[in-house]
Amino acid sequence: MTLPRTDLGAAGAPALVLLHAFPVNRHLWDGVAGTLADSGWRVIAPDLPGFGEAAPAVQPPDVAVAAATVFAMLDGLGVKEFSLGGLSMGGYVAMAVLRQQPDRVRSLFLVDTKMAADTEPARENRLAIADRALAEHSTEFLVDAMLPNLLGPVTLASRPHVVHQVSEWIRGTSAEGVAWAMRAMAARPDSSATLAGYPGPALVVGGTDDRLSPPDEQEQMAATLPMGQLELVPDVGHLSAIEDPQAVAAAMLGHPEMGPHA
Ligand code: MLT
Repeated sequence: MTLPRTDLGAAGAPALVLLHAFPVNRHLWDGVAGTLADSGWRVIAPDLPGFGEAAPAVQPPDVAVAAATVFAMLDGLGVKEFSLGGLSMGGYVAMAVLRQQPDRVRSLFLVDTKMAADTEPARENRLAIADRALAEHSTEFLVDAMLPNLLGPVTLASRPHVVHQVSEWIRGTSAEGVAWAMRAMAARPDSSATLAGYPGPALVVGGTDDRLSPPDEQEQMAATLPMGQLELVPDVGHLSAIEDPQAVAAAMLGHPEMGPHA
């Protein structure tokens, strides 16, 4: 499968692959990607299977399948080594990438994500949402259900363009894409050992107002990564990269050890 993607910066520059959250698409990274490309990265941000312009996966739901599509894209582009960033679901896929070919990942950005597997109630809730999306042939119900958790209170009150954009992205996501990803996330394993075994530079970025992956979980992930560092971005919730892209880009660029490695 060829993943549609944003590809910014010089072709020969160090590659940074950015993976988006659920249930949105690669444009989540638009406000961050230009700044990172201006700072020396080649930023590659794909739509994951079933989101944005990407066709749904045909294989059974599994974050490992999404990771394999990322490798297929990178192999097609001739990119061997890369830095890797994932926001929330993108982070789960990034952890699956690390399980498959860790030696290709030069540095790791985990943004608003979690290393723990789902609790049983969370898993059941995901499977119910997957069934409902398919039964209704719609993702409309997810707008009201998810927005108060995806966006922080400052964004909900004072960044109406972000509220509008995220709502439109959710509406534009297919029921099939939502169902596949929900089932894949429900089945994902605990990733603590994966992170504990990753020897490279790693930065955890979290929003101070994130209710889905709160700051204490971000601290635990940074402590689990052997070279983990932590940056908390004020006044943003779970989708920090669109809530305050400049602050997220500044956090990512504030650690020279993360690259770009000229
Ligand atoms: C996301 O933002 O990708 C989702 O909140 C991830 C999840 O449902 O765990």
